[in-house]
Amino acid sequence: MRKQIIIGNWKMHKTVRETVDFIQEVDKEVAGITVESGVGVPFTSLAVAKENAKNLIIAAQNCHFESQGAFTGEISVEMLQDLNITHVIIGHSERREMFNETDETVNKKAKKLLAKGMVPIICCGETLTQYEKKQTNEVVTRQIEKALEGINEEDVKTIVIAYEPIWAIGTGKTATAQIAQDVCRVIRDKIASLYDDVVANDIRIQYGGSVKPDNIKELLSQTDIDGALVGGASLEPSSFLGLVK
Ligand code: PGA
Repeated sequence: MRKQIIIGNWKMHKTVRETVDFIQEVDKEVAGITVESGVGVPFTSLAVAKENAKNLIIAAQNCHFESQGAFTGEISVEMLQDLNITHVIIGHSERREMFNETDETVNKKAKKLLAKGMVPIICCGETLTQYEKKQTNEVVTRQIEKALEGINEEDVKTIVIAYEPIWAIGTGKTATAQIAQDVCRVIRDKIASLYDDVVANDIRIQYGGSVKPDNIKELLSQTDIDGALVGGASLEPSSFLGLVK
């Protein structure tokens, strides 16, 4: 049985003070809840978020695949581990579109995180044009295949995949539950063909893209959707709790 996982993706939002206020208000409310829940916070907020969170997962939104070196502005997996961070969002479409993230760097980051015993949350998803040309399945399976290249069966089970159609991110347009389910099924089938049915049944697949308290229930009731990656609706405590509860 796969445990549902709901992660907020704060993107470039919240100062240290705002982070502490949020965590202090929300963390106690999620104690004892059956789903795993957490927030992906900016680098500057990781340490205080972690200090204040007893129940919430605190995730980073990116990492570098090298341990150290001349990579101005980058943060290594070791540095995240030093803060006891356990989850890292990688390959988000905003990073792919604006910051040169590629399938190859996503794969390197995933391998590095797994080698350190951490959980990569690997994002995939098609653009509006690709969606309109009915290329979704092809695009997403290619992204998944490349992201998982060279990763063994034991490790791959611990990964979380987030299917996020780019046309649904921050636009208010949610993929219908059926569309989201169908693509998540395609991803699971791809994993079964790359590994086997046991692995495919174990791996958790989130949906992301304009998820809100009023549509999350229908999305998460789909057979192959095991959680959500949520941007805008994860920023306010009341809205975040509305998602999780
Ligand atoms: P959104 O963002 O919920 O604001 O659409 C989702 C995401 O980018 O992860």
